[in-house]
Amino acid sequence: MIKYPKKPEYGEKLNLMFDDELHTMTLSEDGSYTAYSKEYNEHYHSTKDGALHESLVKHVIPAFKIMQKKDEINILDICYGLGFNTLATLYYAKKNNITSKINIYSPELDSTLVKSLKNFTYPNEFEEFREIILGLSENGIYNENSWHVEIFLGDAREYIKRFPDGMFDIVYQDAFSPSTNPILWTQEYFSDIQKRMKRDGVVTTYSTALATRLALHENGFNIYINSGKDFRDATIASLSELDAFGRGVDMKHKIACNPDAKPLRD
Ligand SMILES: C[S@@+](CC[C@H](N)C(=O)[O-])C[C@H]1O[C@@H](n2cnc3c(N)ncnc32)[C@H](O)[C@@H]1O
Repeated sequence: MIKYPKKPEYGEKLNLMFDDELHTMTLSEDGSYTAYSKEYNEHYHSTKDGALHESLVKHVIPAFKIMQKKDEINILDICYGLGFNTLATLYYAKKNNITSKINIYSPELDSTLVKSLKNFTYPNEFEEFREIILGLSENGIYNENSWHVEIFLGDAREYIKRFPDGMFDIVYQDAFSPSTNPILWTQEYFSDIQKRMKRDGVVTTYSTALATRLALHENGFNIYINSGKDFRDATIASLSELDAFGRGVDMKHKIACNPDAKPLRD
């Protein structure tokens, strides 16, 4: 059983529960722990928005807002990291009695990290998924009637190419930042994603960088702002027009105002 330690002060760094020297734990503003990567010099989540809160409001809730009673929902979770987006999806599905079959596919380069997640201090909201967390950490797979989750230990760019065109309803684009991990934000990367998206599918990301939006726009995505009172703006993209997210970003205007702006390239 996962044990929850006495609550330390927000932002206090703890060196618990990782099997390597490359990660430390940080308590984020919503009371959930995230991690800091010494390798990438970046947190896994916004410590200000909070790890669980960020996962829900920037990824899961906006994505499911437009998943109208589908029998099956295929999700690409880029990348697994601590698994918040995957676990928050299961949490949201259970809480909202979503009966669709949910399949989640998630690449992750760092196998040592995945192995240590069985000891990670997740928020209480994930307590009911203890067995799933254990199974995913040890075997990289969880499978039952309504939920199928698999972690691929390897490069996301290679993994994406295994899927057929038009496969995904949802892509959680949650890699380390474009400046830190540019290979998962380029025009060519989003071209590979675009091919595998359903027309009514949705990409969610915390990035609001013009370069990210340009890379999506050049691949035919419409761009929307995901905003709320209690989190910093984020981005939603879809090959279809999404009424649920307002008028969308006028990319022609953005390009006219920023003629030198370019998407990242491979
Ligand atoms: C910001 S974290 C993901 C956070 C995650 N969504 C969560 O909720 O915890 C980015 C992750 O991408 C992984 N990563 C970096 N480059 C990768 C690649 N080319 N393929 C697969 N995973 C990669 C890192 O090891 C790291 O765990």
